[in-house]
Amino acid sequence: HYNIREPAANQLLEHVKKLEDEDKPSATTNSGNPVGYKDATLTVGKRGSTLFQDWVLIDELAHFSRERIPERVVHAKGAGAFGYFEVTHDVTQYTAAKVFSKLGKKTPVAVRFSQVAGEMGYPDTVRDIRGFALKFYTEDGIWDLVGNNTPIFFVRDSILFPSFIHVLKRNPVTHLRDWDMFWDMVSLRPETTHQVLIFFSDRGIPNSYRRMHGYGSNTFALVNDYGSFYYCKFHYKTDQGIGNLDADQATRISGEDPDYLIRDLYNAIASGNYPSWSLYLQIMTPEQAAASPYDPFDVTKVWLHAEYPLIPVGKIVFNRNPKNYFAEVEQMGFDPAHLIPGIEPSPDRMLQGRLFNYGDTHRYRLGTNNLQLPVNRPFKLHNYSRDGYGTLDSQGGAPNYHPNSFGGPESDTRARGLSPVLPVVGNASRYDNGDEDNFTQARLLYQKVLNPAERGRLINNIVMCLKNASEFLQERAIKNFSSVDADFGRRIKGGIQAQLHSHAHAEFGSYKTPINLHLHLSKMSHSNSRDPAAN
Ligand code: NDP
Ligand code: HEM
Repeated sequence: HYNIREPAANQLLEHVKKLEDEDKPSATTNSGNPVGYKDATLTVGKRGSTLFQDWVLIDELAHFSRERIPERVVHAKGAGAFGYFEVTHDVTQYTAAKVFSKLGKKTPVAVRFSQVAGEMGYPDTVRDIRGFALKFYTEDGIWDLVGNNTPIFFVRDSILFPSFIHVLKRNPVTHLRDWDMFWDMVSLRPETTHQVLIFFSDRGIPNSYRRMHGYGSNTFALVNDYGSFYYCKFHYKTDQGIGNLDADQATRISGEDPDYLIRDLYNAIASGNYPSWSLYLQIMTPEQAAASPYDPFDVTKVWLHAEYPLIPVGKIVFNRNPKNYFAEVEQMGFDPAHLIPGIEPSPDRMLQGRLFNYGDTHRYRLGTNNLQLPVNRPFKLHNYSRDGYGTLDSQGGAPNYHPNSFGGPESDTRARGLSPVLPVVGNASRYDNGDEDNFTQARLLYQKVLNPAERGRLINNIVMCLKNASEFLQERAIKNFSSVDADFGRRIKGGIQAQLHSHAHAEFGSYKTPINLHLHLSKMSHSNSRDPAAN
């Protein structure tokens, strides 16, 4: 039944087919020494103990106990693939980046799609933002465009990122997801509202990684050959069409096939059904940025299409599955600081935090020389870094100090010419920007973009989650939703009341509010009806 099974199920059969003309290899240790007996340890007599000198066993066990590395602190579960990017439109008026230099030019790319909150084994169809990270292997080194499937993010200052991730993940005591944590932070920081709407909308559960858009989200900058400077956002729109699961389908699939999205991507590519995306830019001049009524570097906001239309650039196609998941996907390290001449960061506070954080986490997760791993490695590498765990490259004997008289690499004059001169003035301080127009764009999404049926599902999805939070948090969240649209707030409130009414008979009625918290929690009237962990 080979022909009727999905391609992923036939991986081992495919392997054997390839072997037919080759000699079957004999087993070796990790040092390549032939192993005489693969399935028996060295023991004293048939029923006796194992000898310490069984180095074949030690070799196998020692490697086994080091098979796992720390999982990504966010985006731990994902799927990867490889392919190419092809330029279809001329954008050299905006950027000198070589990846865009001429029509028809192809650049190899890698992708990793991911969930944000769950761990390595988490079900694929739980509501979440999805990561959509692209790695371009350009002639100017690696360019990583580390985006998500939403154009915005929850918070707009990187100092809030670790806390926000904590509230998406597990309570450190109960080790459960905790909706008090989530709704507490969401309601205290109303800049989250716009992304919360997208999160609870239909697009919060894609039915395929192939059927979602990608967005660089952060604002970047471009420099052209004449030194002109533009701000830009990247959008990559699916050519397969958007596809989502409703909440009930997603719950069922979580049980039936927790790896639903990984399987879908692998099988599509293995069947020659290569997914593709169209890459677009939005461009804002520095003059437009200075005059913008909202902060163009605020990652909780989009640039409206009518004001900043999408400019087509090229196609991204994925046509190869990973040869080994760990080597090519788990060890893939994306970093927004991997930028090529012609593409620059903007003052976006979230991007600025990211410029530090990814390289730092890779040095912890993958080691000092993670950029020498084949999947992360640039085509050319000429620098003065040497040695460290896992060194693979001696750079052909070139000197390891600069300046030198022995032909070591010198500054790149083209890159120097493309480095923008940034005018920077202002008073350094910690400006809390949490109060900058948190609702206008969420309102556009709710009132203008979503149709009535989509609004109904959004409200239902919010209600089914917010009902789990303490009452004072529900009230605070509803106040924010009412600032988006008064009727929206009313409908959520009504939905929650209906839910609580139908659960009036509590299962966990014995919960006792600690005396010292009693006053503070006096408004949490349903704390008695929740399970102890939620309290
Ligand atoms: P438009 O009215 O021109 O287009 C609406 C956009 O919203 C389309 O890109 C559409 O994607 C996208 N969209 C539709 N449903 C959802 C959803 N559930 N979650 C996220 N995105 C969705 O947009 P405007 O520029 O006038 O902005 C209006 C609002 O649209 C914004 O406040 C923002 O919430 C949302 N939006 C804007 C984007 C932008 O870059 N300007 C990007 C994405 C969303 P599709 O391509 O599939 O039609
Ligand atoms: C992964 C930090 C915001 C998209 C990660 C990782 C860290 C991190 C530490 C794990 C990396 C690894 O171990 O390999 C941050 C910080 C942010 C931020 C500090 C803000 C200050 C964002 C935003 C986006 C995003 C705004 C999307 C636009 C991703 C993606 C991954 C990721 C897609 C997974 C990359 C992969 O597939 O390996 N982030 N992040 N992050 N982040 Fe962020």
